[in-house]
Amino acid sequence: MSKAHFGLVGLGVMGENLVLNAERNGFSSVVYNRTFSKTESFLSGRGAGKSISGARDLKEFVDSLERPRRILLMVKAGGATDNVINQIAPLLEEGDLLIDGGNALFSDTERRVKELESKSFGYIGMGVSGGAKGALEGPSMMPGGTKASYDAVEALLSKMAAQVEDGPCVTYIGPGGSGHFVKTVHNGIEYGIEQILAEAYDLMKRTCGMNCDAIADVFRHWNATEELCSYLVEITEICLRTKDPIDGSDVVEKIMDKAGQKGTGLWTVISALELGASVPTIYASLNARVMSSMKSQRTKAQSILKEPSAFSFDLGDISTGMSPVMDAVVLSTIASYAQGMDLLLLASKEYEYDFHMPSIAQIWKGGCIIRSKLLKRIQNAYNNDNQLSNLLVDPWFASQVQRRLPGLSKVVSCAAQAGIPVPCFSSTLDYINSYRTARLPQNLVQAMRDCFGSHTYERVDKEGSFHTNWLD
Ligand code: 6PG
Repeated sequence: MSKAHFGLVGLGVMGENLVLNAERNGFSSVVYNRTFSKTESFLSGRGAGKSISGARDLKEFVDSLERPRRILLMVKAGGATDNVINQIAPLLEEGDLLIDGGNALFSDTERRVKELESKSFGYIGMGVSGGAKGALEGPSMMPGGTKASYDAVEALLSKMAAQVEDGPCVTYIGPGGSGHFVKTVHNGIEYGIEQILAEAYDLMKRTCGMNCDAIADVFRHWNATEELCSYLVEITEICLRTKDPIDGSDVVEKIMDKAGQKGTGLWTVISALELGASVPTIYASLNARVMSSMKSQRTKAQSILKEPSAFSFDLGDISTGMSPVMDAVVLSTIASYAQGMDLLLLASKEYEYDFHMPSIAQIWKGGCIIRSKLLKRIQNAYNNDNQLSNLLVDPWFASQVQRRLPGLSKVVSCAAQAGIPVPCFSSTLDYINSYRTARLPQNLVQAMRDCFGSHTYERVDKEGSFHTNWLD
């Protein structure tokens, strides 16, 4: 029997769709799942009639693959990934390649690359984005590891990836855990944009009394603009229009207002804190999920901490979409990307990942959850300057800030008067206002630190380190 071109371990939603994608692109496949019954039901269901076979154990799996073997692991991040690697590693031979396509912590991938590359087979840590549909039709893929390992799977990944006008949505990201780092930051931006769109929905509902269909119309309008045309805006419209088949009411209004998380947004914020990147919009989205989970406390507090009694709200003609709310959404979305890209640049220096920023923007233009028209502008900005200090100072993005800052300010101040939380909008406003302020009040913070702890300070009028006897 001829050997398969490609092997997949882990028949979860993503694994199933990725193996169907590989097979459709001409790579006969073999699959292995810890429980064989799952393999059987896949092979008799979606995998039926295709060049896909199943293996009962890892030995049979490895033996069914042509050499060098190309094996994609789609198992739970953390201990489960280590377990599978420990079981499969002794069966692999020189030149074989393991690809971890889960949402792994980048430092775990760093460790695995070091351990496994020394055993003479290749290891790639690859971020995969796009959900089930993306995995099947073409995801965005962010592979990191040695360049030689990437070269060995480039043909396979290029065929499987989403295609945009300037090529497939996959590229060699860099060494070690860089692929998973980029995917983590992708998810941080994803958290930001999700929360931004939720804040816009909340404002339209609570201040203008708009129902889900009317709000969906605004999202549809936004999706037709260059600034907001994106996958997340598109699916937000769909979510808002979807009705409960039982009673025809809006499904969204029946969903409990508690958002969970699997860790990548948290890792983005932890990395930002460690590297000294300023990511307030992304952090606000993470904190909004944390706050949302405190449902019973919030419910109790609502009866104690009353909202402002009367407020007026003038947000322009929201029904056309071209209102201050759109300004707030555009600038906060830009801020999420800007903060994520800034974090990538810092990581590139600190971990010697040597990111090619335009390529990262390019592979996010299709397939992934944060795909949007803005990414073309982001790609252009970094093509003009790969070390651009911040997207906000690129001429096109600066003109957006110039034009939309009054709208964002209005939304944040109106929301504050109405007592409506807009964490991403208000963090973005502070972020932009801080970033464009040449002199911040940290001179006084420095004075306090020096006063109580002799921490010293720098001066604006001469070089050196200074201390004042403040309390004498
Ligand atoms: C993607 C997504 C995906 C992620 C989910 C869940 O790019 O396809 O980022 O990888 O796991 O969106 O993330 P949370 O449960 O943390 O929201």
